[in-house]
Amino acid sequence: MSTKDQNDSKDVKDFYDNWKVENYPSYVKSIMKHEEDLIFNIINKNKQNGTLKLKEPIIDCGCGYGSFYNLTKDSDTLYIDFSKHLLDIFKNNTNINSNNLLCANIEDLPLKNESANTILCINVLEHVNVTKALNELTRLLKKDGTALIIVVNKDSFFNEDIFTDWKVKHNLLNLGTFKNYLSNYNKSNCNVSTLKIEHFETFYFVHPIFKILPNFLLNKVLKLSLKYNDKISKSKLSSKLNLNGQFLLIQLKKE
Ligand SMILES: C[S@@+](CC[C@H](N)C(=O)[O-])C[C@H]1O[C@@H](n2cnc3c(N)ncnc32)[C@H](O)[C@@H]1O
Repeated sequence: MSTKDQNDSKDVKDFYDNWKVENYPSYVKSIMKHEEDLIFNIINKNKQNGTLKLKEPIIDCGCGYGSFYNLTKDSDTLYIDFSKHLLDIFKNNTNINSNNLLCANIEDLPLKNESANTILCINVLEHVNVTKALNELTRLLKKDGTALIIVVNKDSFFNEDIFTDWKVKHNLLNLGTFKNYLSNYNKSNCNVSTLKIEHFETFYFVHPIFKILPNFLLNKVLKLSLKYNDKISKSKLSSKLNLNGQFLLIQLKKE
């Protein structure tokens, strides 16, 4: 790891090791809850319509304090994060067995090749060396396995910064980031396995301008935004004008 990578990784780790969501103002908590609900709904919708199969064993890499535990808690799942502080909160908030929690760095995971059929990696790749992290995720994936990745979309129509409320290093990624990775991966691994994009979509997050509203109005806007998110993201106008959403969901399949 270069010295710069090491310093960046230490800054991100320090940030998450001191992350105290309870100290944030209520509008930030509302927006964070909205983000979790939105992502939860989208993953559930994809599960229900068959786009996504959460086949065991599953790894949730960069699980934080377990926002998406309910999606995978009944499956054989390993939850990984490099913040012990967040894993401790996860453990205190749920009845998870400690054997299902692993404190490790996504760029260098102490796990065997082909350990998982499904990998979730939600809002993590922005903080890391994306090539190293994807090398690890694809190494851990079994053949026919799927990695479901969600990142903040660099190609979003609204080019505002979703992270303005927390000062932590993050890179914005886009579909091109993954296409480039795939192209390099497939060139160097063509005899062993190939990666393909199984599915991708972008979706909208409420515009930060609404933060100025009093909390009860903000909560109403968030509720409406959640209700109509699918319609807005899939509307003809959005696709005609190429109005990409602020989040990119991408499923990579290893064959
Ligand atoms: C924005 S939070 C997302 C947490 C969770 N996936 C969610 O969506 O609620 C980013 C998470 O990535 C973790 N993380 C960042 N860099 C990491 C690394 N190099 N290795 C493992 N985890 C990392 C952080 O500790 C934090 O829990």
